[in-house]
Amino acid sequence: MRLHLLATLTALLTVLLPTYADTLPQTPTTIYNVVYTASTGQNFIQFAGTMIVPHLPHAGFYYLWPGLFLPDYGGVLQPVLSGGTGQWTINNTWYYVVNEDPAGAQDVRDVAFGVQEGDGMRFDMRINNETGIWSITLSVPGTNKTATNEFPMILPKKAYNIPYAVFEIELWSQQWDFGSLTFTDISMVANGTTSTSWCNDRPATLQTSFNASGVNFTVQDKQVTCNIQSMVLLQPGANASAQPTEDSPSSAGKVLFGLSFWWLLLGLGAMLTYTPSS
Ligand SMILES: *[C@@H]1O[C@H](CO)[C@@H](O)[C@H](O)[C@H]1NC(C)=O
Ligand SMILES: *[C@@H]1O[C@H](CO)[C@@H](O)[C@H](O)[C@H]1NC(C)=O
Ligand SMILES: *[C@@H]1O[C@H](CO)[C@@H](O)[C@H](O)[C@H]1NC(C)=O
Ligand SMILES: *[C@@H]1O[C@H](CO)[C@@H](O)[C@H](O)[C@H]1NC(C)=O
Ligand SMILES: *[C@@H]1O[C@H](CO)[C@@H](O)[C@H](O)[C@H]1NC(C)=O
Ligand SMILES: *[C@@H]1O[C@H](CO)[C@@H](O)[C@H](O)[C@H]1NC(C)=O
Ligand SMILES: *[C@@H]1O[C@H](CO)[C@@H](O)[C@H](O)[C@H]1NC(C)=O
Repeated sequence: MRLHLLATLTALLTVLLPTYADTLPQTPTTIYNVVYTASTGQNFIQFAGTMIVPHLPHAGFYYLWPGLFLPDYGGVLQPVLSGGTGQWTINNTWYYVVNEDPAGAQDVRDVAFGVQEGDGMRFDMRINNETGIWSITLSVPGTNKTATNEFPMILPKKAYNIPYAVFEIELWSQQWDFGSLTFTDISMVANGTTSTSWCNDRPATLQTSFNASGVNFTVQDKQVTCNIQSMVLLQPGANASAQPTEDSPSSAGKVLFGLSFWWLLLGLGAMLTYTPSS
């Protein structure tokens, strides 16, 4: 299965590279993440929390996001914090690879707003249990910044088949130089069975040290709500008290990024290395 998926991914990359190579940043993307996988028979119906906006050292292809990942290239629902313009902005995005969108689009992005270092960016991805439509609501409590976007293009069979909740950092020609990335007041709701084995402080990771604390769960009507008080993705080579470094603007950072397509492919490639823990 794993080999098959890898072969498929390689084939996809081979097909797509000629089209996009001209506009890709010149050095490889680095992905860091932490992944919660719901138990067999469960699907996520909500993923909410607060992302603390880190320092932005310079304009650049930094992409930081919590996301809900579908299996088999099915897509990712993600509010993406990006630093490409030299000002953090966050977009609500539904991104997928296969050609199932009625409009033929593969990437639906809605600009939300700019945010500042230290802002507590509240995100809430949830499915409406009557319409089956996913939405992402963003807000910065204490300000008038708020945005809700709905994603009705997520087909029903996908909308109810989401097993992965991810905290991810994608760096395109960038270093992880913005310090640790902190998420707080996280709540992940999985529907379908009462299995709570996935709700712990030892999720799968891809080359990422993290500190998960205050993890507990409640179970009600075949729904498991997993709470995590704090999830910190720790900057490699730094320690908790170290400050992020400043550096000069990079030329790559001046180019606007428009290829979230690759986020999904690369994220999926990364996901193939996980050991599911249901
Ligand atoms: C955010 O969305 C807007 C509107 O679709 C788009 O122009 C912009 O490139 C997006 N930014 C990122 C970083 O995806
Ligand atoms: C649907 O959502 C509403 C509002 O969140 C909730 O009160 C209700 O219990 C939900 N119904 C089901 C079947 O999950
Ligand atoms: C949760 O799953 C049950 C079936 O096990 C279903 O009836 C219910 O609508 C689901 N709730 C949501 C919010 O998807
Ligand atoms: C939101 O607050 C900002 C700064 O206080 C203000 O400039 C802006 O007009 C406000 N926007 C709305 C829609 O109230
Ligand atoms: C992990 O986070 C908790 C809560 O913030 C903190 O008390 C603890 O010291 C942290 N552990 C490490 C190794 O950083
Ligand atoms: C579970 O964790 C949440 C925060 O993550 C906390 O507010 C709540 O009090 C905890 N509940 C129990 C029973 O420990
Ligand atoms: C952690 O970072 C602080 C501040 O940069 C430094 O003074 C300290 O020596 C570091 N500790 C370790 C164990 O690296």
